[in-house]
Amino acid sequence: MHRNNKYHDKAPDFNELSTKYPSLLEFLVEGRSYDWKNPIAMVELTKILLLEDYGIKWDLPTTHLCPPVTNRANYILWMNDLLEMQSQKNQEIIGIDVGTGASCIYPLLGSKMFNWNFVGTDIDENSITHAKKLVDMNEDLNSKISLIHVQDCSNILINVIDINKKYDFVVCNPPFFSSEEESEKRNPKTSRQATNSELQTTGGEVSFVCRMIDDSVSIGTNITWYSTMLGKKSSIKPIKQYLSSCNISLIYTTEFVQGKTQRWGLAWNMHPESTCIQKPSSLVVSKIMTKTVFHYSSAAALFKTIAETVQGINNVTIKKKDVLGGTVLLSVDESSVSIKIMQLQPKQYVVEVKFLGKDLTNSYQNFYEHFSRIVYNI
Ligand SMILES: C[S@@+](CC[C@H](N)C(=O)[O-])C[C@H]1O[C@@H](n2cnc3c(N)ncnc32)[C@H](O)[C@@H]1O
Repeated sequence: MHRNNKYHDKAPDFNELSTKYPSLLEFLVEGRSYDWKNPIAMVELTKILLLEDYGIKWDLPTTHLCPPVTNRANYILWMNDLLEMQSQKNQEIIGIDVGTGASCIYPLLGSKMFNWNFVGTDIDENSITHAKKLVDMNEDLNSKISLIHVQDCSNILINVIDINKKYDFVVCNPPFFSSEEESEKRNPKTSRQATNSELQTTGGEVSFVCRMIDDSVSIGTNITWYSTMLGKKSSIKPIKQYLSSCNISLIYTTEFVQGKTQRWGLAWNMHPESTCIQKPSSLVVSKIMTKTVFHYSSAAALFKTIAETVQGINNVTIKKKDVLGGTVLLSVDESSVSIKIMQLQPKQYVVEVKFLGKDLTNSYQNFYEHFSRIVYNI
């Protein structure tokens, strides 16, 4: 736990809290242990801790992911440490929270703890609506937090925020998992409520963060610190490899520990000294293209079009087709390409095309152009 976390030296005392907030009593089992498995109990506790310890008025529909306060405060405190490392810290700090969720937790905590300004983004319109309600409930924060509904989930920073403006940091807690099966396998006992977009993203957190890295390469130093939380330790290595393939060497990692739950923080900085333009040729290039499509009546119809399209292209070899998993693995010349589809809502699908090879060859470019013409109808 971060040394400055309010709960570093003293965990919340439930009995003490319940004298002031009797609504907690209902969830105290035999006056001792807390009913952690009950989503309503989780929301109630979070509501009380945010009010008692941070003066934040808050609530959340139990269908959404309820953020543990200690963990989210640890991330904000770590971001403050990163900002403190700079020789010249801006007076007025402005950060971006990618995927702020219905809870709007990072903007609310960051504004309250450090008086920071925030732009929060999310692809889920209901979450943005609820987040706006929370900002309105906290009048003192109203002018400090603005929220953006992201229409196309393939966008992370570019086409969402004004990239010509200067920002101090990005924080992000991306959806960790690549599919429903993965989230159920890894979290079988969880009582936690969450929506699909809170848990899953095409390609999982590694793919999400690699897309954020691609954006950071284009945006450069207009944002000082790019960062993300990671739910899986195994994600750190491929993301670090991707960062170094983009010649980004100023990378920091940390651990966020709360009880038995462990998360990781990873941050990078595009300061000119840490970047150079040439990519070493020995490294494998990974290019991920994602697109949201709306014009297919079913996932099966989209999958069929994809399979038929790739089948008819010269120098493409299909290695594996997994209709149920919505994936096709193939190679273009010698390089491998994976295509995945994920359903977001009825008639809304994300198609991810991931290229892994030595170079973005002409064959691959031709393949992708042909693929886009047929599958995306463009
Ligand atoms: C794990 S939840 C995090 C919610 C909250 N920030 C927290 O820490 O509890 C991930 C959020 O990212 C959002 N999301 C997914 N893809 C996104 C994108 N491309 N741009 C913005 N938000 C996105 C989801 O809708 C979801 O609300």
